[in-house]
Amino acid sequence: MAYNLLKGKRGIIFGALDENSIAWKTALKVKEEGGLFTLTNAPIAMRMGKIKELAAACQAEIIPADATSEEDLQTLFTRSVEILGGKLDFVLHSIGMSPNVRKDKPYGDLNYEWFLKTLDISGISFHKVMQTAEKTDAMNEWGSVVALTYIAAQRTFPDYSDMAQAKAVLESIARSYGYRFAKLKKVRVNTISQSPTMTTAGSGISGFDVFFDYAKMMSPLGNASAEDCANYIVLMFSDLSRMVTMQNLMHDGGFSSTGITEDLIKRLTK
Ligand SMILES: NC(=O)c1ccc[n+]([C@@H]2O[C@H](COP(=O)([O-])OP(=O)(O)OC[C@H]3O[C@@H](n4cnc5c(N)ncnc54)[C@H](O)[C@@H]3O)[C@@H](O)[C@H]2O)c1
Repeated sequence: MAYNLLKGKRGIIFGALDENSIAWKTALKVKEEGGLFTLTNAPIAMRMGKIKELAAACQAEIIPADATSEEDLQTLFTRSVEILGGKLDFVLHSIGMSPNVRKDKPYGDLNYEWFLKTLDISGISFHKVMQTAEKTDAMNEWGSVVALTYIAAQRTFPDYSDMAQAKAVLESIARSYGYRFAKLKKVRVNTISQSPTMTTAGSGISGFDVFFDYAKMMSPLGNASAEDCANYIVLMFSDLSRMVTMQNLMHDGGFSSTGITEDLIKRLTK
């Protein structure tokens, strides 16, 4: 059921690769709620992914941009404002990639060039996105910027490797830029810390199936799905959450507040 929560709002959605992507589900929900947006992804993902199908379903234009390139981002923001016919009310940063994880490098043998890439793509790009939005004066007052993160920023999940550092950077940027953007333009900035979700980025982590089942068992409500996450993002883009900023919002079925569950005790009882 749609509530027209985003009627008249304009924005940019980063990171829809295929129908499993959290950004893909979010684009469909935002459209359903009356929002207008452009879609963007790295040029390489344009060739591998199915973003054109999504663009057709949402009547949205695609503007390729590598989120680590300031030049690409400047074009993206400027073009988006032109295409959508006005300044922006929401931005979704749904981007993550670690070459070390992708190539199964152990944490004690990281390639540091790749580590820097992980930080740039998955963390610093969030700063670049907001700095570009500020410099191009692309945001409306009371706009909302959301990035997706994972609890490995606070607690260790060994196979998450250098992505844990990238997420810690991302969450810290949300606080620092959130302060600046609130003072400058009343724009709010938050991260949503999502349950493990079956997507390309998610299943790139080794042992992801076990990871997923463990989180499900440890969450009294179970794992939050990509659809659930899309709904939460819509809420964060809407005027119903206008005083929430600089927060890392747990969207995990209760995982982060749970010590142990009966399900796990049963499973471990000898
Ligand atoms: N899947 C999970 O278990 C899970 C859990 C918590 C948080 N997250 C986060 O959710 C976000 C979305 O991931 P997803 O799970 O939907 O997977 P996904 O693989 O569908 O999305 C990741 C996206 O990042 C894009 N990307 C990679 N490098 C880029 C670059 N240089 N420039 C622009 N885009 C680039 C990819 O093309 C892809 O579209 C990520 O930040 C991820 O870390 C995922």
